[in-house]
Amino acid sequence: MRDRKVVCRCEDLTEEEIIHAIEEGHDDIESLKRYTGATTGPCQGKGCLMHIIKILSQKTGKSPDEIGVTTQRQPVNPVPLYILAAGDVEGGEEDSREGGADG
Ligand code: FES
Repeated sequence: MRDRKVVCRCEDLTEEEIIHAIEEGHDDIESLKRYTGATTGPCQGKGCLMHIIKILSQKTGKSPDEIGVTTQRQPVNPVPLYILAAGDVEGGEEDSREGGADG
């Protein structure tokens, strides 16, 4: 059995699959992300983005600065639902819906 070097654990992507995608023409970070799903798992690339940039850099000859990073979507970090449900607590506004937040 061949060694599988997993690059993106969330999406179960190997280095070989990333290299294959680059060779098929997905040689920029956004295209590679959309084609493979890399960096779209629960960790949002925290566990794989740097590895993928390194592979892209080696295969294309571009510097990591030229490659850049994937577009970040909000929220960058997970936000517990109770914080979102609390509303604007710093502004002192209360929930104006009838019955408040509890019903
Ligand atoms: S390890 Fe790639 S998205 Fe989490």
